Amino acid sequence: MNSIWRDSVSLPNFPSLDGDKKTDVLVVGAGMAGILSAFFLQRSGLSVIVAEAGRVGGGVTENTTAKITSQHGLCYSKLIQEVGKEKAGQYAMANQQAVEDYFDLISEQKIECDLQRKNAYLYTLNDPETAMTENFAAKQLGLPSRFEPDLSLPFPTAGAVEFKNQGQFHPLKFVNALAKQLTIYENTRVETIEEDTAFTALGNICAKYILITTHYPFINVPGYYFMRMHQERSYVIALQNAPGVNGIYIDMAQDGLSLRNYQNLLLLGGGAHRTGENHMGGNYQRLRQLAREYFPGSSEVAHWSAQDCMPIDQIPYIGTYAPTKPNWYVATGFGKWGMTGSMVAAKLLCAQIIGKGSPYTEVYDPSRWNLKSAASNLMDEVGHAVQGLSSTVVQLPKTKTDELPRGHGGIVEHNGRKAGVYKNDEGRLFVVSVRCPHMGCQLEWNPDEHTWDCPCHGSRFDYQGRVLNNPANRDLSES
Ligand SMILES: Cc1cc2nc3c(=O)[nH]c(=O)nc-3n(C[C@H](O)[C@H](O)[C@H](O)COP(=O)(O)OP(=O)(O)OC[C@H]3O[C@@H](n4cnc5c(N)ncnc54)[C@H](O)[C@@H]3O)c2cc1C
Ligand code: FES
Repeated sequence: MNSIWRDSVSLPNFPSLDGDKKTDVLVVGAGMAGILSAFFLQRSGLSVIVAEAGRVGGGVTENTTAKITSQHGLCYSKLIQEVGKEKAGQYAMANQQAVEDYFDLISEQKIECDLQRKNAYLYTLNDPETAMTENFAAKQLGLPSRFEPDLSLPFPTAGAVEFKNQGQFHPLKFVNALAKQLTIYENTRVETIEEDTAFTALGNICAKYILITTHYPFINVPGYYFMRMHQERSYVIALQNAPGVNGIYIDMAQDGLSLRNYQNLLLLGGGAHRTGENHMGGNYQRLRQLAREYFPGSSEVAHWSAQDCMPIDQIPYIGTYAPTKPNWYVATGFGKWGMTGSMVAAKLLCAQIIGKGSPYTEVYDPSRWNLKSAASNLMDEVGHAVQGLSSTVVQLPKTKTDELPRGHGGIVEHNGRKAGVYKNDEGRLFVVSVRCPHMGCQLEWNPDEHTWDCPCHGSRFDYQGRVLNNPANRDLSES
């Protein structure tokens, strides 16, 4: 099902690439990060081309909840501990500035995108001490924070960290207004990049600078982003006849709820899990159950899900792609806070490319190595990769295709071989290889969405094997 954003705006169709091109800047990927970066670079006088594998805004950006805030979950006390007060302060200021940059740009460009000022709340159900510590950390870094003991949510809370004057908007109305001013080629997947040239099936694009804003970078070496990020999925339902909550909310706990209104709707989010680890499913059902409990009389008008890249030290990678590729740039690892993250990226990459410099270069440097936080998370990433790879070589599965119930999918023995099989409600079989084309890990069936998901780095494929989310850059083969 589409998000409410995709269904409430009609974006123009952009042409596909039609032969070779030359430009100052090539931006690969037309999500929030790519479109904002292209806009600022073009405004600084450079010629810019955007190549998009699918539709503009059709990646994570159309499935976001679009809160514009420097309040990024429970992050500032941890950041101070792990990267020190100076860098934590730079992160805080970059994102707080990004909130204001949205308000300025939307006002300057007269963009009608339902932008509203809202206070942001990081609430807790049972741990006010941790919330107070977070409030203290945020205040120390200069953020507009205070502890709010009483919230009027329809379930009991034990207080919240309040950030004043944050925002919310309609992400695709915003993207649409900027995209109309750019040269974009849709349905144009960049297959590979060599030095100053990007190769697609429809022609090659030669550029002085190449920005890789493809959500998860699809080039493994150099960069090695696959060792430093995984993806996390979460689920959203849109409710009508639910009360207004007058603010943007997120639970301090990892398994808690996110809330915001859009017009007469309430968006309720939750059910976060590492992509590829949703064997039991039931995430939408759990949200629906909570909606019945907290918002009786409400009814669902839409549901959707999406995933974002989670860097090992909580800080996105924005800057030069790798020391050996000084003309390639990257913006990734937004950790589910890619609205301000994309604005920070666009401003920072633009400053770096036009040689202006920025106080935020070091904290976001993709080549950094924050030892305190990174070491244990890096081992965790390696552990997942080893597990995902070894699963592909163990013996045949116990279940055979005949035993698979209708409407279900799974890894089964099919014609004497291991295969991924989905049996639809009519009994028709869709058979795919369960080997991920990115780096070979074994895919897992996601019963909530009828997709094949990779636990290693988060690539996803529909039941027919068509790639939905990168880093994989091609479809699954038949088994
Ligand atoms: C459920 C959920 C809720 C969220 N809510 C919030 C929120 O409230 N506030 C917030 O700040 N953040 C939020 N986020 C995070 C935010 O939505 C993302 O970080 C942001 O949208 C990422 O934008 P992007 O441009 O990096 O990626 P995308 O929007 O995915 O754009 C990448 C584009 O690159 C294209 N592409 C990929 N490979 C290629 C290729 N080889 N060639 C050409 N094009 C290619 C894709 O088709 C895609 O269009 C949320 C995330 C999730 C999952
Ligand atoms: S996403 Fe990397 S192996 Fe599947």
